Amino acid sequence: MAYKDVYDSWKADPEAFWMAAAQAIDWVEQPSKALFDGNAPLYEWFADGKVNTCWNAVDRHVENGRGDQVAIIHDSPVTHSKKWITYVELRNRVAMLAGALRAKGVEKGDRVIIYMPMIPEALEAMLACARLGAVHSVVFGGFAAHELAVRIDDAKPKCIIAASCGIEPGRIVHYKPLLDGALEQATHQPDFCVIFQRENEVAHLEEGRDYNWHGFQYGVQPAECVPVEGNHPAYVLYTSGTTGQPKGVVRPTAGHLVALNWSMKNIYNVDPGDVFWAASDVGWVVGHSYITYAPLIHGNTTIVFEGKPVGTPDAGTFWRVISEHRVKSFFTAPTAFRAVKREDPKGELVGKYDLSNLGAVFLAGERADPDTILWAQDKLNVPVIDHWWQTETGWAIAANPLGIEELPVKLGSPAVPMPGYEVHILDEGGHQLKDGELGAIAVKLPLPPGTLPTLWNAEARFRKSYLEHFPGYYETGDAGYKDEDGYLYIMARTDDVINVAGHRLSTGAMEEVLAAHPDVAECAVIGISDDLKGQLPLGFLCLNAGTNRLHEEVVKECVQMVRDRIGPVAAFKLACVVDRLPKTRSGKILRGAMAKIADGEAFKMPATIDDPAILDEIAEALKTLGLPKKGRP
Ligand code: COA
Ligand code: AMP
Repeated sequence: MAYKDVYDSWKADPEAFWMAAAQAIDWVEQPSKALFDGNAPLYEWFADGKVNTCWNAVDRHVENGRGDQVAIIHDSPVTHSKKWITYVELRNRVAMLAGALRAKGVEKGDRVIIYMPMIPEALEAMLACARLGAVHSVVFGGFAAHELAVRIDDAKPKCIIAASCGIEPGRIVHYKPLLDGALEQATHQPDFCVIFQRENEVAHLEEGRDYNWHGFQYGVQPAECVPVEGNHPAYVLYTSGTTGQPKGVVRPTAGHLVALNWSMKNIYNVDPGDVFWAASDVGWVVGHSYITYAPLIHGNTTIVFEGKPVGTPDAGTFWRVISEHRVKSFFTAPTAFRAVKREDPKGELVGKYDLSNLGAVFLAGERADPDTILWAQDKLNVPVIDHWWQTETGWAIAANPLGIEELPVKLGSPAVPMPGYEVHILDEGGHQLKDGELGAIAVKLPLPPGTLPTLWNAEARFRKSYLEHFPGYYETGDAGYKDEDGYLYIMARTDDVINVAGHRLSTGAMEEVLAAHPDVAECAVIGISDDLKGQLPLGFLCLNAGTNRLHEEVVKECVQMVRDRIGPVAAFKLACVVDRLPKTRSGKILRGAMAKIADGEAFKMPATIDDPAILDEIAEALKTLGLPKKGRP
């Protein structure tokens, strides 16, 4: 069948389409129907089915004869180690861990925060929660203690599972002290913590609160898989919104199973038994969906890679892993390829490895620039597929569905909508725009299975952020256009979210931190273009009248504050002091105009600007930072 036939068959009868896809899942009780729309515009899928995620990701493969197949390969250049875990071993490890959690009181519906680096135990912790019907929330290791504290207070976990440390090239990330710091800041306290002690750094355990990962499993009964309702939350994953308060995206159990399983063959073109590698981090949605859940649900072998595209030890690491583990389908962010390309522009290291098993490369997380795609196509000689999605959706909104049909690649486009997504380009008033016209990208409700039904503890915010602006649609927060063949082009965010090295960050959250500096009266953070990371944050600081502090000192303190409050992942290193910020007459800061000046792009002077001369002052300040890089046209 061609893509168009599959898409049309979904459109003609979505209910039949998703019920058919649901047959690939093991149910404890079959759902009576796919869509539950009684509470529209809030929708649920397979709500009255009974199912368990861990059973589908682990146990059923053992039952079906895949017990000896490798489920997880841990390839860790930063610790010079490799490890293989079969499905039967994974089942036993997860059942014991779940048993130990249960023995300490963790039950269906309880929240568990997981704060771990790229080690198999992170996946095991996620799966152990799924086994019990507990709701995990994984926090990325690059966040500071404060961000962890915010998530602890929102999720109110009964238990926190962490590792003693993570390893970044050249430094140890002290997870346990970060966790202790977060617990000092948080109002909510968990009943207990479980710490996985790594050889690289053994952490202090707090008597009576912290348990050793291995020790606390002694003598427990392995836990069986607990059936949960189809609409039971599988996990909550926090992502950046426009403010410092992150949004807790809820992932519903059954839709997640059905959609991810469907995506593995139809989009990524892998069969059970194939090796699938997503070089991301379990702390991001890509890690949730395509390191942990989808490959395991589909009976693939997944790779947990603890390293970087470059420097661990060189720009050939990706090719070494692909070759050594016979990877069939590889998923990464464009920024990672840009880092490799910068070190090895001619791709000389590619030639050192046998990549004959590789079928395709998938890119997501940020816009894939044509240069990067062309470079990868040329060096790897396989389809290089850009696809577009978000934490909120959990799987691709638009892609080139290789397992259905390889559509022609159009550079700069993540191709076409997947079944379940009816994508429209709208103007401010919610009217559909013509092909080629730039507008807000919205998806007609209902969103397909697996996508967010709401935000954790924040239904009103869910409605306001996603449903109210364009009634009847889900607002993606991205802007772009469609061409005459229905290909989508994702051009920019419509909110204060920026994308740094494939990481989604809130400029609003950074502004909140800067505004707390005692000498800062007012501030603005914008995203500027960067050749490697796609975007970088840049801060403008207006100091309090009468402050005679050295500007460099204030800037340095502000940079440190963002690192301490949000974390190193914010990559906030650029800031300058200005007298005034450009604003509209109604007082709105003109961040877009400042970003254009910093990037050296032409822009239209906003008609509502209060005082155009301020933009010249901004341009002068940017020159001190060596911006714009390319020179203004
Ligand atoms: N734990 C702790 N710190 C982390 C971290 C983690 N898991 N991940 C990143 N950091 C730190 C980095 O060490 C760096 O700290 P520094 O300021 O002390 O150098 C900072 O956060 C910024 O990290 P990053 O933006 O990733 O830049 P980098 O210079 O370390 O590496 C790339 C650049 C391009 C190689 C890297 O960004 C990369 O591989 N990106 C892949 C993108 C990706 O997987 N995105 C996920 C979405 S698909
Ligand atoms: P996240 O929720 O962290 O996955 O970030 C989602 C956002 O990243 C999207 O809303 C887009 O702004 C951006 N994004 C992800 N994939 C792509 C892509 N293929 N092309 C353009 N932007 C993308």
